Amino acid sequence: MKKILVTGGAGFIGSHTCVELFSAGYLPVVVDNFSGSDRRVMDALAKILGTPIPIYEIDCCDAVAMRDVFRKEGPIEGAIHFAAYKSVGASVNQPLEYYANNLGSLVTLLQVMRNENVRRFVFSSSCTVYGQPDTLPVTEESPMKPAESPYGRTKQFCEAVINDAVTANIPLQAVSLRYFNPVGAHPSALIGELPIGKPENLVPFITQSAAGWRGELTVFGNDYSTRDGTCIRDYIHVVDLARAHVAAMHWLEKDTRPAFNEIFNLGTGNGVTVLEAIAAFEQASGTRLNYQMGVRRPGDVMEVYASVEKASRLLGWRTEFTILEAMRDAHRWQTTLGPTPPKA
Ligand code: UD1
Repeated sequence: MKKILVTGGAGFIGSHTCVELFSAGYLPVVVDNFSGSDRRVMDALAKILGTPIPIYEIDCCDAVAMRDVFRKEGPIEGAIHFAAYKSVGASVNQPLEYYANNLGSLVTLLQVMRNENVRRFVFSSSCTVYGQPDTLPVTEESPMKPAESPYGRTKQFCEAVINDAVTANIPLQAVSLRYFNPVGAHPSALIGELPIGKPENLVPFITQSAAGWRGELTVFGNDYSTRDGTCIRDYIHVVDLARAHVAAMHWLEKDTRPAFNEIFNLGTGNGVTVLEAIAAFEQASGTRLNYQMGVRRPGDVMEVYASVEKASRLLGWRTEFTILEAMRDAHRWQTTLGPTPPKA
């Protein structure tokens, strides 16, 4: 099996990508320091795959440890870099930690890859780089807007680092994937999203609220100029998103250009309001959700959804799951977690 290094492979998107890589005939080699994930994810992965996969509990900013993984596991065909801090709120209070970790791990990994002659690289970026776009759907050519948080800025800076490496002709065949709103869970309900502490994102808050882990949901603003007054996002099932990484790896294997960074949006192409997302959850789970209308959340954009024309044309990838299926899987995953949140 061809080996793919997966940093952050125990995280939400990383773990689902490990499953899809393995199904496609790759062996994911996971690097994770478990700062934002749970060690039990590796057992769940082994259950889904029928075999354990290699896991290195190290920090991606540790160049020597990272080099040793490449040497021990080599040859490694490529790397997918998920490992990063991702809380918008925490990034405002701890900007230095966010820059050190998110930029440091990227730069370290790219240096180690260059030294070990590994060129294929997939980077986890975010639609947050677009801010509130002037036209919708958002294409990859849409301009970046000033970031609303240090977290968002780390994604913009990381993309710039990759572009500068390419400009300098460092042999790097890169794909930067701008995720819209990843939701759902693996249909087996063995892996899913489990944010540490109170969730900031909508869908984990919905599922945890319905499960009684949290109080009622507050809808952040219903006075936007959208069809029902609430914000519009593009919610993509995490398994669809994971499969796009496999498609990106296949595409990188065919592209012979010595150095490039190709950007792809990954969403469904459909905008869904907060109230529509709640209704989808209620329908999929057969439960009622308690929610109240609240004030707008600072930094929220009103409306953003993707043009996925480029990903479908070049990667031959398209989404298969509906929002109802995403909500069904998110709910199913939540019900496996028990009546109370795990102790921190
Ligand atoms: C947020 C981040 C974004 C990050 C993305 C990761 C902000 C401002 N943006 O995006 O940088 O890349 O998560 O997935 O935090 N909502 C509620 N009540 C809640 C939670 C959310 O009404 O308790 C609403 C939000 O106002 C928004 C929608 O639900 O309209 C989705 O929110 P969320 O899941 O946090 O995603 P984004 O805001 O798109």
